[in-house]
Amino acid sequence: MKKLTQLFSLEGEIAVVIGATGALGSAMAQALAQAGATVAVCGRSRERGEKCVNAILAIGGNAAFFETNALSRESLENAHQLIRSSLGHVSILVNAAGGNDPAATVTPENPFESIPQAAWQANFDLNLVGGALLPCQVFGQAMIQQRRGSIINIASVSAHIPLSRVVAYSAAKAAVLSLTRFLAREWAPYGVRVNSITPGFFPAEQNRRLLFNDDGSPTERTRSILAHTPLQRFGEPHELAGAVIFLASSAASSFVTGTDIRVDGGFLSQTI
Ligand SMILES: NC(=O)c1ccc[n+]([C@@H]2O[C@H](COP(=O)([O-])OP(=O)(O)OC[C@H]3O[C@@H](n4cnc5c(N)ncnc54)[C@H](OP(=O)(O)O)[C@@H]3O)[C@@H](O)[C@H]2O)c1
Repeated sequence: MKKLTQLFSLEGEIAVVIGATGALGSAMAQALAQAGATVAVCGRSRERGEKCVNAILAIGGNAAFFETNALSRESLENAHQLIRSSLGHVSILVNAAGGNDPAATVTPENPFESIPQAAWQANFDLNLVGGALLPCQVFGQAMIQQRRGSIINIASVSAHIPLSRVVAYSAAKAAVLSLTRFLAREWAPYGVRVNSITPGFFPAEQNRRLLFNDDGSPTERTRSILAHTPLQRFGEPHELAGAVIFLASSAASSFVTGTDIRVDGGFLSQTI
């Protein structure tokens, strides 16, 4: 039996967090660094990436920014090569790039029947292809070769039960859950574990317009979300730390693959 500190230590691990330039990815990158991992902060925005790196350095952790477009296999391969040569072999991958593309959001002016195919495609590209599929292919291949790794995909409550309006996002996130379970079985023989986290509602850039009016007041949707959340509040990004460290740690979650951890204030546990 490992000591408690060993169970949750990520010392010596190299973690890649794609979308560490965003609200949830940045918090998870900081959590992994706090547990001892060296973190490759990936995303398109250098400015927000450097901010995340600086936050990690400020707590005594190790991190570097790698400009990455998750929608491009070439960009992911370049980032992977740079990370390997400058930091070492990657053993943890967190896929936190994603979000709802509003072009496919159902509104009275944009009913389901007329959502353009391109808007559906944009949601699937961002959340399924760039948000999980391509990074799993690129980083997973190296993990298979080294016979160890932990991949953590980020799903959504809408992957389990579709939310109103964000139909394409919900369908793409449901596909992320399916891909996660498929890869858990596919890569278990190679020592690569694949799990997901389902965050509930956390205010971030990608959902700001759905949750808040221009004057900052809560939208009707926010009121109904909170009424449906047993803990009666939004989550705070640091509240994902426990789940991501647990799934990343090969000591703490060595027998865990293909599972999904809900960090949702109880949202998926109640109907009415
Ligand atoms: N906030 C919530 O309530 C909530 C709930 C459930 C699930 N989620 C999921 O959690 C994940 C993080 O979202 P968030 O809420 O933290 O939103 P956010 O702050 O808007 O972050 C989204 C991230 O996606 C990255 N991204 C977008 N396109 C990219 C691309 N082509 N290549 C690389 N990175 C790209 C952005 O980075 P760059 O702009 O730097 O590229 C940004 O870091 C998403 O998958 C989201 O669907 C969020």
